[in-house]
Amino acid sequence: MSKPTFYVTTPIYYVNDVPHIGHAYTTVACDVISRYKRMSGYDVFFLTGTDEHGQKIEQAAQQKKLSPKELADSVVQRYKNLWKKLNISNNHFIRTTDESHKKTVQEAFKKMQENGDIYLDEYEGWYCTPCETYWTETQLLDGNCCPSCRRETTKLKEPSYFFNMSKYQDKLLKHIEENPDFIKPASRRNEIVAFIKEGLRNLSVSRVSFKWGIPVPRDEKHVIYVWIDALTNYISALDYFDSNSDKRKYWPADFHVVGKDILRFHTVYWPTMLMSLGVPLPKTVFAHGWWTVEGQKMSKSLGNAIDPNWLIEKFGVDPIRYFLLREVPFGLDGDFSFKALIHRINSDLANDLGNLLNRTLGMVKRYFNGQIPDYKMEDEIDIELFKKIEETFNSVEAHLNELAFNKALISIWELVGALNKYIDTTAPWALAKDKENRNRLETVLYTAMDGIRILSLLIYPFMPDTALEIRKQLNIDEPVEKSNFDELKKVKLLKPGKSIGEVTPIFPRLDEKEIIENIKNENKKEENQKQESKVEQIDYNHFMTVQIKAGKILEAENVPKSEKLLKLKIDLGDEKRQIVAGIAKSYSPGELVGKTVAVVANLKPAKLMGILSEGMVLAATVGDRHRVLELPDEVMPGTIIK
Ligand code: MSP
Repeated sequence: MSKPTFYVTTPIYYVNDVPHIGHAYTTVACDVISRYKRMSGYDVFFLTGTDEHGQKIEQAAQQKKLSPKELADSVVQRYKNLWKKLNISNNHFIRTTDESHKKTVQEAFKKMQENGDIYLDEYEGWYCTPCETYWTETQLLDGNCCPSCRRETTKLKEPSYFFNMSKYQDKLLKHIEENPDFIKPASRRNEIVAFIKEGLRNLSVSRVSFKWGIPVPRDEKHVIYVWIDALTNYISALDYFDSNSDKRKYWPADFHVVGKDILRFHTVYWPTMLMSLGVPLPKTVFAHGWWTVEGQKMSKSLGNAIDPNWLIEKFGVDPIRYFLLREVPFGLDGDFSFKALIHRINSDLANDLGNLLNRTLGMVKRYFNGQIPDYKMEDEIDIELFKKIEETFNSVEAHLNELAFNKALISIWELVGALNKYIDTTAPWALAKDKENRNRLETVLYTAMDGIRILSLLIYPFMPDTALEIRKQLNIDEPVEKSNFDELKKVKLLKPGKSIGEVTPIFPRLDEKEIIENIKNENKKEENQKQESKVEQIDYNHFMTVQIKAGKILEAENVPKSEKLLKLKIDLGDEKRQIVAGIAKSYSPGELVGKTVAVVANLKPAKLMGILSEGMVLAATVGDRHRVLELPDEVMPGTIIK
């Protein structure tokens, strides 16, 4: 019998920005649901990709002096690398510049035309380039500013093809009413219904004002409006219009997972387009909330968008995956803070889960020489624990089917808590004191280990690496992804007598203060580097206002009460100068005497720790050390350097 199919998609990401945690969030969420569905015996198709056409991308490329395709290629690689690091198990990565995608978009456009839903007219409106949106006069803020991003709009008039969207208004409302799962969460559904009831306007679906896009078939002056192009990715990835395509079976999608800002495009434009094409609608469009960072909106201009690569290097992949889905209910907005992240890692991962594994396997080593004990002497408390395991499976399944990731994790951690409590109550260390209790001791540790084995299955969709590491320590080599979830629910599957693997802590505790301090320092450094790299170009005359001379160091001594400063006497040819330099951590005074170095000779004198300094010695910074610029002996003191 063939497996049931399951199709889940992320939005396709614009290539004018580099990936940040907002993008990682959606993609991790889709990965979790994909892994869970594969474990449950589904034939999963998980799609992600990039949205590469449109004016914004054309402009971003121009600024970087690249062609749009060159810009796209480099950003696409960044996305692909990040998804690899984040353990994303997508089945396909679609780019809107793929030939097969372009063909499908043109075919869709033609079909909509043939169905009488597209006509040529003229469009006039206030256009916001960054948002790629036309606004009506009444929608504008403060004169002519975009109501979405508040930047200035420009009045544009151009010939345009239009999609007769209003024709589908009633049909769409009816669909939403009859399919309560179509838009989730429910609060968002109400917003969309209210919007549709205000009356749908026909949609301008082509542009002549820029070139970077898919041409309208038979009228190549026009390119197809970016949202029509982008939304079609969900069916072009399946080669939907090719009746021989073996991927058509995945349609309709089970979940389009999107951010709240693009819900309207997915629940108004997309379904009406599909209605025109005669293609069934996706089952559910789920809108998640937005992340802020330390209380602030993430934005390019604030420069506070967090690079997930950096986060992964610092904290590891699984803690990040866990945090993103545990911290905030999927559907609501949330705030990313290092304090909250470190707290989750220390309490949930290191303390609760890590300790459970470590103490249990530690005792199996101590009392049974690392061999799995047997389930010999059952007690009421064991039966209760196995009941808890069964309940946890059921609630995790129910929550995941609703994309309630945080509730699923709460359920799993209730089981972690129950297992820790089970060990505290049964107190194996006390049982081990008396040989009479040997059978009971075996049963207790067997039960705890089997519980951990179950945990490795439950956490697998969220933290695949950790799940596999736990299984390695338990020495289980059975694959996690079975063809049948009921198989996975079976308990007492551990094989007594088998040796366990090497036991090592999975999540070391983090020192919150130290990490936050380090991050602050790194940020400062980065800020300085940014400032330095921002330095403007100067002309020759400007450069020549700085006088750099060769100077021979005659004397050097430490400055009392200062770890950093050295007092130097330097021969500058026609005069001797006293210079205080912050290089005491990198050189002892003796090392410097006799060296010929580069000196900024016309720097205004200043006092450092009360000592007069008449110039500056040039040095390069290597990590936290300084290396002075040394000149060959033949360069006489006082020689001008330019
Ligand atoms: N290209 C369109 C989508 C086309 S889908 C047919 C697009 N791209 S995007 O790169 O701007 O955004 C992609 C997704 O990232 C959106 O779902 C958006 O909601 C999400 N996020 C962007 N910033 C975010 C946060 N700060 N927090 C959470 N998600 C965020 O829109």
